[in-house]
Amino acid sequence: MTQSITIRKPDDWHLHVRDGAMLKAALPFTAHNFGRAIIMPNLLPPVLNVKDAIAYRERIMAALPEGSNFKPLMTCYLTDDTDPNEVEIGFKDKVFTAVKLYPANATTNSTYGVTDIRKAWKVFERMEKIGMTLLIHGEEVDPEVDIFDREAVFIERRLTPLLKAFPKLKVVLEHVSSRIGVDFVREMSPQLGGTITPYHLLLNRTDWLGWGLKPYMYCMPVIKTEDDRKALVEAATSGDGKFWLGTDSAPHAVAKKLAVTGAAGLFNAPVAIESYAKTFAKEGKLDKLEMFASLNGPKHYGLEPNEDTITLGTEEWTAPEEMKVDGPEEKALIYRGGEKIEWKVVARKLAHVHTATCGCK
Ligand code: DOR
Ligand code: ZN
Repeated sequence: MTQSITIRKPDDWHLHVRDGAMLKAALPFTAHNFGRAIIMPNLLPPVLNVKDAIAYRERIMAALPEGSNFKPLMTCYLTDDTDPNEVEIGFKDKVFTAVKLYPANATTNSTYGVTDIRKAWKVFERMEKIGMTLLIHGEEVDPEVDIFDREAVFIERRLTPLLKAFPKLKVVLEHVSSRIGVDFVREMSPQLGGTITPYHLLLNRTDWLGWGLKPYMYCMPVIKTEDDRKALVEAATSGDGKFWLGTDSAPHAVAKKLAVTGAAGLFNAPVAIESYAKTFAKEGKLDKLEMFASLNGPKHYGLEPNEDTITLGTEEWTAPEEMKVDGPEEKALIYRGGEKIEWKVVARKLAHVHTATCGCK
């Protein structure tokens, strides 16, 4: 039986689109199906201030396909030295939507990250005052901590005291990857929200490691147990307003993914909304997809949902294995590449078509 569903155009609240040739190649996949995306600032060097963010936003706009109305929402990369005034200026001038906290050395391009969250106390104070959201890569980097426990230990050692110290600061625990993470977001709601990736919903660590090592399933935070995956599916498909879509789509050159020390990150933008639809359909919860993908995120940020719509239908297609990159990185491995994808975006509808006389910008 064929199925179809029309939802308001989703937004991606956690996206890596990189820069240069990789940006040019990767961005159209997101721009086709998403209205807006929170753009991660972990470039090399990172997006550290208002000037960097304006310049990066311009490069993103220049890389958009002709006629696209996609809107990038920029973030500021938090370091030990971030100036609260810079953050406030960027927020008030509508350049920054949020600040991103990477614990130093937790993941790709995080060496400039925060070495001790107490060093950023003044920035948090200011953000709390101006109502700006803090996005957190919630993993403890203490080498004594097992990689599968990094999220849980970060919650206990860092996030709990942070939320207590700044009870009005809006915080998002990004790419929630464990049952402990899900339970914590629920407990700390409404102060805390959580984004969930398509691959943490579909994969467990046996998929990643159990049948030969699958380097393209390697990401931070790592994919965890079946019990964790089930908790994430339950949270995403429940309709609970504290969970929303963030793909963490993160393209890497194939050579970097397959190297002796492989790069963390799954490039899932080409199959993202289709993969979420698969999860929701399997649970019999397609009616909750729009909340998760298109409504809960904007609500958190105090934004209107998109007016455009997309229609997803059950129409099988095969995902490409790689994306060509017109530069030294040559190609990026695509998540679910070569697999039969059950869902397809079969229609996209603009709420409003601009004309010479319509009067809007
Ligand atoms: O797996 C990941 N890749 N996790 C992150 O947090 C960063 C991302 C990247 O930039 O490649
Ligand atoms: Zn990320």
